[in-house]
Amino acid sequence: MVQPSHDFKERAHKILDAVSAGDFFEANHPKLLPTFDRWNTNKKKRQEFTLGETLGKGAYCFVSEITDITLTRAQDGNTDADGTTSSLDLNSILNTTSDDDVVLDETDFPVGLFRNTDDMRKYMSEYCLREDDGGKHARYALKQLKPTNDREKLEQGLIDISIEAKFLSYIDHPNIIKMRGIAGEPLSPNFALVLDRLYMTLQEQMEQWAADRKVATASRWSLCGCYFGTVDEIVIAKQVFSALTVAYDLSCALRHIHSCNLLYRDVKPENAGFDVRGTIKLFDFGFCKELRKDLYDEKSGGYNLTIMTGSAPYMAPENLLGKPYGTPADVFSFGVLVWEMLHCTYAFHHLNIWAYREVVAEKNNRPRIDKSLSSRVQGLIKESWDRDPNKRPTFKSLALLLKSEYQEIVNETEPGTVSRSQHLMDSSARSFEGVFTSVFESRRSSKGGKDKKKIDAES
Ligand SMILES: Nc1ncnc2c1ncn2[C@@H]1O[C@H](COP(=O)(O)OP(=O)(O)OP(=O)(O)O)[C@@H](O)[C@H]1O
Ligand SMILES: [Mg+2]
Repeated sequence: MVQPSHDFKERAHKILDAVSAGDFFEANHPKLLPTFDRWNTNKKKRQEFTLGETLGKGAYCFVSEITDITLTRAQDGNTDADGTTSSLDLNSILNTTSDDDVVLDETDFPVGLFRNTDDMRKYMSEYCLREDDGGKHARYALKQLKPTNDREKLEQGLIDISIEAKFLSYIDHPNIIKMRGIAGEPLSPNFALVLDRLYMTLQEQMEQWAADRKVATASRWSLCGCYFGTVDEIVIAKQVFSALTVAYDLSCALRHIHSCNLLYRDVKPENAGFDVRGTIKLFDFGFCKELRKDLYDEKSGGYNLTIMTGSAPYMAPENLLGKPYGTPADVFSFGVLVWEMLHCTYAFHHLNIWAYREVVAEKNNRPRIDKSLSSRVQGLIKESWDRDPNKRPTFKSLALLLKSEYQEIVNETEPGTVSRSQHLMDSSARSFEGVFTSVFESRRSSKGGKDKKKIDAES
């Protein structure tokens, strides 16, 4: 595999210093993060991970599950062995401490337990697999660069993954992927990120919704000529509910990012996924950027940033057309994504970049919005992909609108359940299957003139 050029580290440091020169990094502290060894080019260091199946591939990177972590050194690098240099006795702490004393984050990582990175390394090596009825599953995934013989691509990939590591070591939100450590040598081809493992991307979920919708639509008429319209409506209503829930969670993640004065720049279904509990997480922070004051363009209200950054079928017109842009650019991409989730199809994937530029950015065409959606949701999409960035809503108002929509759906069916559902919505680890089922079972029975079932949001 090709290596970076001799002056790469110097150039890369300049770029990374510029990335971290703004107020965000000044005002916040990085998280405590352990480092892990990987083979270096001379194979002088041992690999501490065993990798399992490849979970996904992007333009520069691929992600594999980590099936084992065998520690080969203590964190300070002086001592070896099995992690015994750390004085953390995990078993005794986890077995004897009451639940209240161990602060767990939403993926059961006992953040309050660790005094130093040695403790984290030891914990991660011992609890690398999660056990449930279905067997053992990897808790962590490794994001690393794809092997390439193209030096330019390698160097760009190294910069992107280093920028991503920088942002993820500062950002903390229940709907944003957690980085648990870094591995390998910074700015070298073996550099990698240790992330919580996700189980399905939003893109895969959307494909599943599209397949389910097809089946539901096809089953409208049975062989004997009976009409099964209700089945169809329930499937679609459930999907709309799931999509709105995902949209709400993502709007909270993006509201948080924007509140830090950061721009994400790559909202798309391939960059969000579901964790072990079904909670959506935004990942892939390679294009994240701080909106520093010196980049501000007073005339437009945008920022002078690298143009055409992100993925074409979701890119805001101002970004594509080389104008200054800012937080409304993420709102545009979000609007396209919400439309796609609710219509179970892609909006602009059939267009190449030049056609997209002409049709979407210049002629301002957008796909038709399903009139059966509530006027609130229709308005939210229309405003989010407005040609004028200054007319688009903020994620603060989008999150409020989506929350109201959610409340209304639940309320419409059973007014007494909102507070409990609200509680669910506010909690970071959500599973709405129980809510969907009861809400829509109830809706179906009320349409059929039968007694309404009592909704138990906990069922
Ligand atoms: N934590 C994770 N757990 C499981 N799979 C993941 C995880 N992170 C990423 N993936 C999978 O790997 C793919 C590529 O990851 P990612 O988007 O971070 O890479 P990238 O090269 O930066 O992508 P891009 O092409 O968008 O620049 C994702 O679309 C997803 O399928
Ligand atoms: Mg990606």
